[in-house]
Formats: sequence, C-alpha cells, structure tokens
Amino acid sequence: MYEQSQLRQYRKWRQFDAGTWAWILHKVTGWALTFYLFMHMTVLSTSLLGPTVYTNTIGGLESLLVVRVLELMLLAAGVFHSINGLRLVLVDLGIGLKSQALSFYVSLALTGLAVLASIPRFIGGVL
Ligand code: HEM
Repeated sequence: MYEQSQLRQYRKWRQFDAGTWAWILHKVTGWALTFYLFMHMTVLSTSLLGPTVYTNTIGGLESLLVVRVLELMLLAAGVFHSINGLRLVLVDLGIGLKSQALSFYVSLALTGLAVLASIPRFIGGVL
C-alpha cells in the first residue's frame, strides 16, 4: 500500500524538473523506437508477397495523413533520443555536468527545429 503523501507527490508532474522530463522522454522515445522497429519489419515483410503487394502497401499507408503525422512523431522520437542519448553519454563522462538542464532544452529545441523543417516534406502530397 502506498501512503497518501507518496501518491500526492506523483500528482505534481507540473513541478517535475528538467532532469525528470529528460528521463521520461528518453524512456518513452527509446521504447517507441523499439516498437516501431517491429512495425517496420511487418511492413517490409509484405515484400515477400511480391513487388505489387509491397508497392500497394507502402502507397496505401503513405496516402494517409495519420501515417504521415505518425512518421513525423517517429522523426521527433528518433532525433530527440539520439541527441539526448549523446548528451547522456557526455554527462556520464563528466562533461557538461553543470549545464544539464540547458543541454536538455537545447536537445528539445533541436528536435523541434528538425520537426518544423521536415513538416513540408512529410505532410506534402496528402493535404
Ligand atoms: C544515436 C542513437 C542512439 C543513442 C545515442 C542512444 C542512447 C541511449 C542511452 C545513452 C540510453 C541509456 C539511458 C540511461 O542512462 O538510462 C538509451 C536507452 C535506450 N535506448 Fe537508445 N540510443 C540510440 C538509439 C536507439 C534506438 C535506434 C533505439 C530503438 C530502436 C533505442 C532504444 C532504447 C531503449 C529501449 C532504451 C532503454 C530506455 C529505458 O531506460 O527504459 N535507442 N539510449
């Protein structure tokens, strides 16, 4: 059984610091990328049924706006996880220990820029 005071602590997500958000986002993006890997293999496996089935599958998926938006979210997850992962490796090596919050915000900003720059490419053709 959890104490009421402990449960109340978990509800204060608005008060999470940069480090907690970085930890949560790194986990979420890491597992999202892993989940995607299985979906990716499932879609690629349609090529075993012949070039026409594969081309139609890819064409059908890419014509859907929701798939394009999910791809954009995948890009965001990949870019954030990579940049934040490299940031974590540097922190583990003792580099940038005093500016961890700043480097997390830079990771977020770079992810945002990559997503914004990619919107025309990803959404183009379905709207
Ligand atoms: C440049 C590429 C990448 C870098 C630099 C990177 C870096 C890292 C680091 C440093 C951690 C450990 C974080 C910690 O200390 O807890 C980690 C965790 C993880 N990464 Fe990556 N990663 C990369 C790509 C990927 C890819 C492509 C996937 C999936 C296909 C992935 C899936 C995961 C998962 C599932 C975890 C464990 C998350 C957890 O703590 O539960 N990573 N990554």
